[in-house]
Amino acid sequence: TVFKTPKEASLNVANRIANIIKEKQKNNLPAVLGLATGATPIAVYAELVRLHKEEGLSFKNVITFNLDEYYPMQPNAAQSYVTFMNENLFDHIDIEKKNVHIPDGTLKLEEIPAFCLDYERKIGELGGLDIQILGIGRTGHIGFNEPGSAPNSGTRLVTLDDLTRRDAARDFGGKSFVPTKAITMGIGTIFKAREIVLMAWNKKKAPIIKKAVEGEMSSDVPATYLQLSDNVEFILDEDAACLL
Ligand code: GLP
Repeated sequence: TVFKTPKEASLNVANRIANIIKEKQKNNLPAVLGLATGATPIAVYAELVRLHKEEGLSFKNVITFNLDEYYPMQPNAAQSYVTFMNENLFDHIDIEKKNVHIPDGTLKLEEIPAFCLDYERKIGELGGLDIQILGIGRTGHIGFNEPGSAPNSGTRLVTLDDLTRRDAARDFGGKSFVPTKAITMGIGTIFKAREIVLMAWNKKKAPIIKKAVEGEMSSDVPATYLQLSDNVEFILDEDAACLL
């Protein structure tokens, strides 16, 4: 679906999320959301905050799982995805902290496999993600599933692609300060969500969107695996869609 502007597209995604939350509230059920970081979803989160503050949307029944976190990463660091989520969403809504899950960048290496299994188990016990929102990296990564990721991959420690680290360099004050690894939900984890929404704006994303939507499915461009799923929607602005 192509919208004229990122703003219109973001409002559409925020409203879908709000509708899921409200539907679940009616039935006294938790809404289980898969969340993403990066510049792309910022306006979605801003709209959810507005809906909370101005229209009384409550997040008391919301349980969230973020896609990924750099490794190693202290949660209170400026570049952590914990800080990002707090600043853009969690600090401004009535979500309970115990309902927020973000991969832990402070684990010892040997603790990571058990943590990842537990992350998957928690999502599974809640009946899976009601919706997973995604951005896309210029390598075609979703979450931090870089080229080479398997379609059935689970939550795990991964090595970041050089292009991904270059794109993150600005946030870290230079590429050499960008962690070389991350913990990410797998492509298999993402696929289990009942609804997947991939968002992309701006001309910079147009070439990778063309590959993801029209390119041959291959682990070289992990987002092409989304072609396998019936419950995926790409939400684009006109610039990101301009090569389709
Ligand atoms: C990071 C995140 C991804 C995100 C990507 C694109 O790599 N781990 O989840 O999709 O950045 O970021 P942006 O939205 O800033 O273009």
